[in-house]
Order: sequence, then C-alpha cells, then structure tokens
Amino acid sequence: MKVLVVGSGGREHAIAWKLLQSPNIDRVFCIPGNGGTATMPNCQNVSLSIDDFEGMLRFAQVQGVGFTIVGPELPLALGIVDYFQAAESPIFGPTKEGAQIEASKSWAKTLMQEAKIPTAASATFQKLEAAIAYVREQGVPIVIKADGLASGKGVTVAMTLEEALEALDRIFAGQFGAAGETVVIEEFMTGQEVSVLALTDGKVIRSLSPAQDHKRLGDGDTGPNTGGMGAYAPAPIATSELMAKVQTQILEPAIAALKARGIDYRGCLYAGLMITPEGEPKVVEFNCRLGDPETQAVLPLLDTNLDDLFMACIEGRLANFPPLKWKKQSSVCVVMAAGGYPDKVEIGQFVTGIGKAEDMGAMVFQSGTKLKNNALVTNGGRVLGVTALGDNIGNAIVNVYSALDFITYDGMHYRKDIASKATN
Ligand code: AMP
Ligand code: GLY
Repeated sequence: MKVLVVGSGGREHAIAWKLLQSPNIDRVFCIPGNGGTATMPNCQNVSLSIDDFEGMLRFAQVQGVGFTIVGPELPLALGIVDYFQAAESPIFGPTKEGAQIEASKSWAKTLMQEAKIPTAASATFQKLEAAIAYVREQGVPIVIKADGLASGKGVTVAMTLEEALEALDRIFAGQFGAAGETVVIEEFMTGQEVSVLALTDGKVIRSLSPAQDHKRLGDGDTGPNTGGMGAYAPAPIATSELMAKVQTQILEPAIAALKARGIDYRGCLYAGLMITPEGEPKVVEFNCRLGDPETQAVLPLLDTNLDDLFMACIEGRLANFPPLKWKKQSSVCVVMAAGGYPDKVEIGQFVTGIGKAEDMGAMVFQSGTKLKNNALVTNGGRVLGVTALGDNIGNAIVNVYSALDFITYDGMHYRKDIASKATN
C-alpha cells in the first residue's frame, strides 16, 4: 500500500518512518515533506501546498494511495477531511467541524463546560474594555488566549497585571488577525503537563503512551514558549490510575459531547493536561492532531503497525482492534533549534553528523531542513528532533545526548535538561 502524509515537520517524518516499518507499506509520499523525508528510502516528497485540497486529492487518486494522514491542524481546520471524504478517499483526521476543538478555544471551552470536563475556569470576550475589567477583577496570575489558531503563539501566561493588559492590547489590536477577535481568559493552573494522544474512531478511544513536552526555550523551564523543545514517554506522572481518570473524565465525555453535536470525530484527539498538585487531570487545551514533538518520542516505542491502527480509526473498527503493543523502554526526543529561534531564525546552515548519530542508535527526525544541491541545510526554527530509547528514562537521556553530540550546524542550540523531571 502507498500512503500520503500531509505536512513538513518532525512529526510527519516520524509518521512516515513508522509507516514504512509496516510490512503493508511500500511507499510513502509527503506533501511537502522536508530534507529528512526527501532522503528516507521509499519516501518521496511532493511539491504541493497543504491547502491545495484539489491537487492533493488528485495526487492521492492518481497514485491510488490506501489512505492519507494529516499532520498539522491548519488543513484540518480548513476542511481537508470533508473534501477527501466527499470523494470517498480514506483520510485520517477529524472533519472541519471536529477540528474546531483546536481551532476555537471558546468553542472547546463551551464543549468542556457542557460535558463537565475538568478544566480551568474561563470567560470569553469580544471587547477590550470588558476583558480589562474582568482581568482587574480576577487579578494575576492569569492566562490570556487568542481564540483561533496562532501557531502556539496566542497564549500569554501573565504573572503581572501589566503583562495581562499588554497581551489584551496586542490581541485586540489585531496581532493574530481574525484569530484574535475573540479572547479567552483563564484561571492560572499549576502542576505538571502531560500530553495524551488519543486515537479514536468516534466510538472507541485508545490512548498512546503518555508524553511530556517541554514548551519553554530554556533549561529549567525558563524563557519564552516555543513549539516544543523536547519530549519523553512514557511520562511516569501519568500512572495507570491517572490514565483511567483521563479516559472516563476527559476523553469519553469529549467524544460523547462531540457526538451530541452531530460530530463523528475520527482521528487523534490530543488532550493537553495539567496534573494538579492533588493529582487530578485538568484540560489545558485539546488539539485535533498528533503532537509535535510528542509523536517523535512516542512512535518509536510502538510495536503495532501504524497503518493498521489508522485504518481501524478511519473505518470505525477500533473496538475489534487488538491491544496496542509497546516496547518496555523509555524514549527521549531532544529538539535542536536554529540560531535565533523562536524569534527571527537563521536558515541555510549546513547540517552534519546525522549519520553518526544514527550509528549510535538514535532516530533523527528532521523538521526545518531541506536539500540544497544534495547537501542538507537548515530551513526553519526547529531543525531536528533526535530520539533515543533506553531501558529507563535515565539511560534514554544518556543515549540521546551522546548521539546528538555528533550533530553540528552554525547557531545550533537545544535544551540540556529534557526529561530530567522524570528522574527526580
Ligand atoms: P495552549 O496553547 O492552550 O496549550 O497553551 C500553551 C501553554 O501555555 C500550555 O502548554 C501551558 O504551559 C500554558 N498554559 C495554557 N493555559 C494555562 C493555564 N490555564 N494555566 C497555566 N498554564 C497554562
Ligand atoms: N507539542 C505541542 C503541540 O503539538 O501542540
């Protein structure tokens, strides 16, 4: 079978890599892909834009792909799944209506409130004056969020009143365009975060191994928020008791509430959770797709064929699907960023040493890279995600950092403390 993967990040490289381990898959196409998917055996990049639904559907039909999997949220929010479904071309991901769970934070909040899903208390505003009055009344710390998609940049965790008011000013002045016409203001939650990537066929829910992302740029969770600087799995804080609560208090009510709205949600429902100091899971956000870089940490642990699992979700057969098989190991993924990230990044730097890191047993998932005259150069903020396994988290940490020592490019930087929380 041939499969089409939509996207160009490390997540899509990891999905393509995992699909190609299945005996059922002989070829993967990536639209548009990156330097890693361009050079992986049996994988081919296709130069189409991820909002060109007509072009992508035609490509899928001409190639006779078995199914398409959509990595990023934007095409999902624009309705790629509805478009492919109308042509009866199998595709993994929720419809446009289902993708609102990520594309509109106020929509997701209403759904959570109706379904009594534990989450931060919140209020929604369309006018600056009312938002300011609410912030003054609630006090700080407080969290200000643009309603729509903002590539992870729409959230301000304000520790001071000045920061909160400044964030409101920026959003209402149009920093995020239409995505900021509505603002959600939330109670500040404390605790550790866990990402649960739950696969569903609209009826049955199977969670992947729980992971922990590292959103801040600097060691010790300092500096600005980023797309994610590293992840590890399984996260020991997500015990089986906690995962049982996540299933019954969060995932099942969410799928039921979606169904009550007439939404047959098939694909990945990503629950970004805060585990409170009392050990209770609360939703920080839902995403309508797999996480990046969580996917790069989680998929190397999975011993079930990914195509079988995705097809079972697409075809509504998850109830009869055998239990997922997991390696009894730990996985750590460290993201290597470009100089200047997360602000203005330097691109076009030569990347060397990937082969040596792979010889050490690491998996090097590329994101911001491309081939230039057959040489690999940086082409984005997050350049590589290097993953290594170990018999425990401590070993996986040692393995990943010894492998990525071989990789170099000008401006390279990465966190030195990925997964260290799990060893305390
Ligand atoms: P989001 O895009 O909603 O996941 O928010 C990005 C990051 O901001 C989260 O991963 C958290 O680290 C932080 N954050 C969001 N909402 C809250 C909240 N209510 N309390 C504390 N931190 C939050
Ligand atoms: N790692 C965070 C995200 O995928 O949204």
